[in-house]
Amino acid sequence: MDTMSFGYAEYDPSQTPHNETLFTLANGYLGLRGDFEEAEGTYHKGTYINGFYDSEPIIYGESAYGFAENHETILNLPDPKRIELEVGNLPFSMKRGVVHASSRSLNYRTGLLTRTVDWSSAQGDRVKITTERMVSFTEKHCALITYTVEAVDKALFIKLTSFLDVGVRNRSSKDDPRVGSKFTSNPLVIEHFSIEEETLNFSAKTRNSGLSLYGSAFHTISKEALAVTPSERDLALSYTFSLAKGESVTLNKFIAYTSEDDSAPFRARRFAQESFAFHAQEQEAFLSEFWKVGRILIEGDESSEQALQFNIFHLLQSCGRDGKSSMAAKGLTGEGYEGHYFWDTEAYALPMFCYLKPDIAKSLLDYRFSILDKARLRAKKMSLEGALFPWRTISGEECSAYYPAGTAQYHIDADILYAVEKYLAATGDEAPSTYVEMAIESARMWLSLGSFIDGEFCINEVTGPDEYTACVNNNAYTNLMAQNNLKFAITLVESYQQQDKILPLVLEKDELESWKLAQKTMRIPFDKRLGIYAQDDSFLKKADWPFATTPKSKHPLLLHFHPLVIYRHRVLKQPDLVLAQFFLSGLFTKAERIRNFSFYEPYTTGDSSLSHCIQSIMASDSFQSLKAWTYFKKTVRLDIDDSQGNSVDGIHTASMAGSWMATVYGFAGFRDWKGTFSFDPKLPSAWKALTFCLTLHSSVLKVELRPDTVIYTLMTGESIDVIHRNENFTLKHGESKTFSLVPKLGGVLFDLDGVLCDTAHLHYKAWKQVSDENLLHFDREVNKGLLGVSREASLQVILDHNEADWPQEKRSEVLKKKNDAYVASLDSITPSDLFPGVLDLLSDLKTHGVKIALASASKNARTVCKKLGIFDRFDAIADITSVQKPKPEPDIFLLASEQIGVWYTDCVGVEDAKAGIEAIKRSGMPAVGIGTKSELPGSDIVLSGTKELTLELLKKVVAGR
Ligand code: BG6
Ligand code: MG
Repeated sequence: MDTMSFGYAEYDPSQTPHNETLFTLANGYLGLRGDFEEAEGTYHKGTYINGFYDSEPIIYGESAYGFAENHETILNLPDPKRIELEVGNLPFSMKRGVVHASSRSLNYRTGLLTRTVDWSSAQGDRVKITTERMVSFTEKHCALITYTVEAVDKALFIKLTSFLDVGVRNRSSKDDPRVGSKFTSNPLVIEHFSIEEETLNFSAKTRNSGLSLYGSAFHTISKEALAVTPSERDLALSYTFSLAKGESVTLNKFIAYTSEDDSAPFRARRFAQESFAFHAQEQEAFLSEFWKVGRILIEGDESSEQALQFNIFHLLQSCGRDGKSSMAAKGLTGEGYEGHYFWDTEAYALPMFCYLKPDIAKSLLDYRFSILDKARLRAKKMSLEGALFPWRTISGEECSAYYPAGTAQYHIDADILYAVEKYLAATGDEAPSTYVEMAIESARMWLSLGSFIDGEFCINEVTGPDEYTACVNNNAYTNLMAQNNLKFAITLVESYQQQDKILPLVLEKDELESWKLAQKTMRIPFDKRLGIYAQDDSFLKKADWPFATTPKSKHPLLLHFHPLVIYRHRVLKQPDLVLAQFFLSGLFTKAERIRNFSFYEPYTTGDSSLSHCIQSIMASDSFQSLKAWTYFKKTVRLDIDDSQGNSVDGIHTASMAGSWMATVYGFAGFRDWKGTFSFDPKLPSAWKALTFCLTLHSSVLKVELRPDTVIYTLMTGESIDVIHRNENFTLKHGESKTFSLVPKLGGVLFDLDGVLCDTAHLHYKAWKQVSDENLLHFDREVNKGLLGVSREASLQVILDHNEADWPQEKRSEVLKKKNDAYVASLDSITPSDLFPGVLDLLSDLKTHGVKIALASASKNARTVCKKLGIFDRFDAIADITSVQKPKPEPDIFLLASEQIGVWYTDCVGVEDAKAGIEAIKRSGMPAVGIGTKSELPGSDIVLSGTKELTLELLKKVVAGR
């Protein structure tokens, strides 16, 4: 399979609508949807210019102050692709005559779309048609179509008619909020059209937005025509040819569309001065430069490789490169979401461009600066200081007619500044004053949006990324990202001040201090009992969505339930807090990320196409490879397989970019937290190898990942600092460094009670004593549930067993009594209480350089170890009081491995309790159970006693043998 192209060899009319989206060609400015040249058999002919729109007032049933005033819709422009063929007076179409064979192929290497049709008319006249299409990456206004017809088995008269079809319109759809235009009249007025010899021209103006458009098509033919007939009415030129048997003729159509000036006729003519072959070469040269860094190779999974290249190619086609336009959610492939720019650009696509083509990333950020003044006006309208960027827009004006899932998503400012920060860190560039200006204005916006309430900076009445929860107080994602935004603005301003550079805006007295206070006291909702960040102040007080009784046919929920019904429940359209944990990874411990991902996953419907890729990345981060793989599969071919059922309206650019992120940030474990580049690779088991490149500070780093090794090579540039897992290294030009990924025993993390010594019976005695005193039933059976469990949780188990509920005060009192009794009993402990074999094992591990840590749930662990005489044997004793959650949460094991500096997957945990085994497995480590198989499910191996444990055995367990 050629993974650098995508196409079909057999024609299936049912796929036509969807294929038109997939076969789109664009260059970030001009987009030609992949519809056929002829009108018949086409679903929707589409031609777009990035940012070329018209607007009309939004008609609200009930309006209110500050509602977005106008909708803006990308316009479907006169169709320059249209060419009709007649063979012996009968029109060619895929719906008539006999289609003997038909193929289409989009080549990402050449940037050409090729179509072939072997067709006979009802009269039996057979022709072979070959068309090639290109939208030039080097001449942004220009496109080219070649149309070749061959008379197969007899001499034929044929006619080719080429149009600039001014009859096309935008699609309209009433039922789906995601598609269709709302224009009351034709928004594009054709002002002039003309035919001058071989050129078709028109000029047009939008009705309300005041934009001008000029279009021209210049034609050349490979053989003299019998007749050339212009049709002013149709803005078309017809060429009649007589073909001998086996003879062919080619019509070349050089197209130019301009929206900035009237140069289209000139550009079309100039473009036609060079041959198709010349332009094809230019196109390929541009793409070859791009693919040098952009190419991703996957051994063992051609389908994913092809889809990834497809996605990357489409993203390259979708992004504006002129600093005046951005990336529509659907690229230039269709009219879904009206051609609006959302946060998809900065949050999803921009990371990829930072590392594959930083000039595009810069241009996308420059677009944001170009609309800063409009964002200032919007802020005023919303009673805010600074600048508020629009949730969805083309021109820079807010266009979200449904404010709860639009304007309320204030996080857009933070997303943009997060992208600015990422871009600067990725390129190593100094912040230009334009970005500093955006940072200052966004910081001002946050300060005026939030309020200091009870000592905390609160941001109320907002919507986070999850659109199934709206207008809430203190959305964790928003507050975390706003905090990051403020910190970034502070850093930029201070660095300007330190360098005596003039700030683009004058700061008020104390302004910087107020930003500092807000970011420091930012409210981040956290639920201590669950150990998770609440999505917002109200989220955990909502009832679960009734998933069990919601049939598949009722998804996506947004099309089947009133928003209020959805908002009332605990249900997510896409990751929210979990997304913040990906973006701001360095702010959270591994345990927090694992726990929050697991907590939110069951509530996350994935109804948004922005969902699966983030889930995949965070599943990778959480040692859940299979899950990461499943989510990746759902994201990487989302448009090719039309799995959301709406690719007909356009590609899903965020999901496409997400598939790149799931590969690079997910499987390769790339992180770029605050400009430090690190990797934690875990190749999917279905893949034999993954190779990709990243541009880091204008150096190109190649990463080659195989099941057992990873090789980092600096392809260009002088040197770069990189981290592999927890190892820092520097690569100089041309240097490679190889790391083994084969798990190798480096650390053993021991539980204490029941593993190294028998203190379990002392815990039992103490619990028995306080239970008896409080008339609670407690026996050996109940005690089993206490193993490995924290003191507080143990009491809860006993209370639950007795169907009792105690106030906190009483609990504290009894917990203290239990501990006093337990500590008193520790007096009797001596080294002889160590289990047999423990000392030898610890010595053996030390001799062989294996690190040893204690990961006990007991707050008395240090005392016990001292009494046992093994305190000094440990390289680390992880402190249970310093972690967020006890076993079965992974915190203590992850902390222990971090303290001994051994990578998680090179550690093994040893436990006698079910909760402990669970904790080890959630930490991505193999687990040795001490006890019985039935009581310790999930263990990689179960031994009856610690004495059976040897260095050799531990090595084998870690190596997975
Ligand atoms: C674990 C024990 O190791 O530590 C549990 O298996 C105990 O039974 C837990 O509850 C907490 O111990 P401590 O000493 O902090 O009460
Ligand atoms: Mg134990």
